[in-house]
Amino acid sequence: MADSPVSHHPSGGGQESPDSQASNEQKAQMEQAYQQMQRKMRIGKMDEEIKHKIMVLSGKGGVGKSTVATGLALSLARKGKNVGLMDIDITGPNVPKMLGLEEAELNVEDGQIHPANGPSGVKVISMAFLLEDPDKPVIWRGPIKLGAIQQFIGDVAWGELDALIIDFPPGTSDEPLTVSQSLPGIDGVVIVTTPQEVALLDSRKSINFAKTISVPVLGVVENMSGYKIVGSTQPNLDFSVMGPGGIPIECKSDQEGNWEVTLDVFKSGGGRDSSSEMGVPFLGSLPFDPGIVRGGDDGVHRIIAEPDGETAKAFEKIVDNIMDQLGKSSDRSLRII
Ligand SMILES: Nc1ncnc2c1ncn2[C@@H]1O[C@H](COP(=O)(O)OP(=O)(O)OP(=O)(O)O)[C@@H](O)[C@H]1O
Ligand SMILES: [Mg+2]
Repeated sequence: MADSPVSHHPSGGGQESPDSQASNEQKAQMEQAYQQMQRKMRIGKMDEEIKHKIMVLSGKGGVGKSTVATGLALSLARKGKNVGLMDIDITGPNVPKMLGLEEAELNVEDGQIHPANGPSGVKVISMAFLLEDPDKPVIWRGPIKLGAIQQFIGDVAWGELDALIIDFPPGTSDEPLTVSQSLPGIDGVVIVTTPQEVALLDSRKSINFAKTISVPVLGVVENMSGYKIVGSTQPNLDFSVMGPGGIPIECKSDQEGNWEVTLDVFKSGGGRDSSSEMGVPFLGSLPFDPGIVRGGDDGVHRIIAEPDGETAKAFEKIVDNIMDQLGKSSDRSLRII
């Protein structure tokens, strides 16, 4: 994707005259200008070809943005939608690992990158595909990073999509700002939070950030909401289990002796509270699910490993709520996916 670095001709090396050097530089500049123009045209076309563009943000790191972004993409794809997933996290891109695409090779045709084919037909593009050594930290100064993001947006051949989900690094820094300025017609932001107070505080910042850049907030997802344990014992038995912090949780088995308890590992309900406080929709919560961690490490997303499981169902509800939100705005009503 990145243009090849402009080569500097040694001056006084006797190889080229100053005139031919100047004309080479001019050629390089013209080539760059041409590429930029093409990129602009392609970005303009993206607005027509991609019905919905959704950014996934959080103020805090590690709350599950990439898990949610990949989950939304897979869940939409399983509903029959044409979906793209763009991982804009330059310093820690991990979407390919989560989708088992680490070995994927990208095709470049006519100067455009063709995304990798992920599970359920999700088209995936990530900075990780372009890094030579995934273990080497990427240290790019601001302007270079932002230039790379602009190229990244304009050089991918997505084709027609119902939705493009964009995963970001944590925080409300340059990346979402650059994307919102470079990519026209962003439909909105999905904010991911965990239920504890510090994460909620950051999610409020993200909501304010979205408002500042004039991108609608589609809603808040509360991740790692509660951990469900199940068991069986005698029918209709009252008992208690030890919850987080040693606090007992009252429990009762049903007529067959089955019981279930939800442990609020990081509290619960904070996402709903903070979204109503900030006047934005609450899209739903995802359970704390150790299978998500395993899936992230093994490259088989929870939705693929257990399509009828609790986590997959929770994602379906969230996707339905997002689609509702997309349908609510009258100027977008013609483009409902
Ligand atoms: N609902 C969940 N239950 C259990 N573990 C989860 C859940 N959601 C995410 N995780 C785990 O938490 C870790 C962080 O998740 P993820 O990488 O999606 O967060 P992130 O917000 O994208 O992080 P970063 O800010 O570094 O980009 C991962 O190991 C992931 O498997
Ligand atoms: Mg991430």
